[in-house]
Amino acid sequence: MNLSVQGMRIAVFCSGNGSNLQAIIDARDRGHITAKIALVVSDVPDCFALERAERAGIKRVVVERKAFRSKKEFEKEILKNLEKEEIGLIVLAGYMRMLSPDFIRQYPERILNIHPALLPSFKGAHGIRDAFLYGVKITGPTVHFVTEDMDAGPIILQSAVAVMGDDTEETLAEAIHKEEHKIYPRAIQLAIEGRLKIEGRRVRIF
Ligand code: GAR
Repeated sequence: MNLSVQGMRIAVFCSGNGSNLQAIIDARDRGHITAKIALVVSDVPDCFALERAERAGIKRVVVERKAFRSKKEFEKEILKNLEKEEIGLIVLAGYMRMLSPDFIRQYPERILNIHPALLPSFKGAHGIRDAFLYGVKITGPTVHFVTEDMDAGPIILQSAVAVMGDDTEETLAEAIHKEEHKIYPRAIQLAIEGRLKIEGRRVRIF
C-alpha cells in the first residue's frame, strides 16, 4: 500500500469504552500518530468512546443500525460520512459489528482492526474470555487488516501476554488492554507511513 504521510485523515469506529481510541488520541498528542483523527463513528449513541471524542474535540457521528431498513442503507450512511471527511484509513477500535464485503471493498487495505487474542485463535466477540476459559498460558492482542472473513486478515502486530496462575478474566483483560494500547498506535502509524506491504498472508514491515 502507498499512503501518503501528509494529510492522511483517519476515522476510528467504536461501540464501547473507547480505551483504544484514547490511546490513539494520546499517541497523536505525543506526535506518535501523525494523521488527523478526523472522525469517530459509533453505532451506540451513549457509549463512552463518544465522550472521549468530544473531550478531544474530534468530530463524531452516530449511525445506529436500527435507524435503517437494511444493512446496505446503514453502511451507505457511514460511507457518506467517510467520503465527506475524505477518510484515508479506517481504524476499528472495539467496533462490534461486521462490515459487509461491499463496504470493505470500498477501502481495500485501508481498514485495520484490533482483536484481544492471538489470531487465528479465539476469533469473535469474546476473545479474552474464550482464551481464558480454554486455559491458554499465552494470549495477547492482534492488529490485522480487515478482509471479508471475520478476524482473518493479514496480521500486522501481535503482543504476547502470559496468563498467570492467579489471573482472573478481569486481570487478564487489563493486561491485554495495556498491550493493545501500545501496539495499536504503533501499527496505525506504520500504515500512515506506508510501511506495510501485504504479501499473501504475510505483512512485511519496512
Ligand atoms: C478491545 O479489547 C478490542 O480488542 C475488542 O474490544 C475491546 C474494545 O475496548 N475488540 C473485539 O473484541 C473485536 N472482535 P475499548 O472500547 O476500550 O477500546
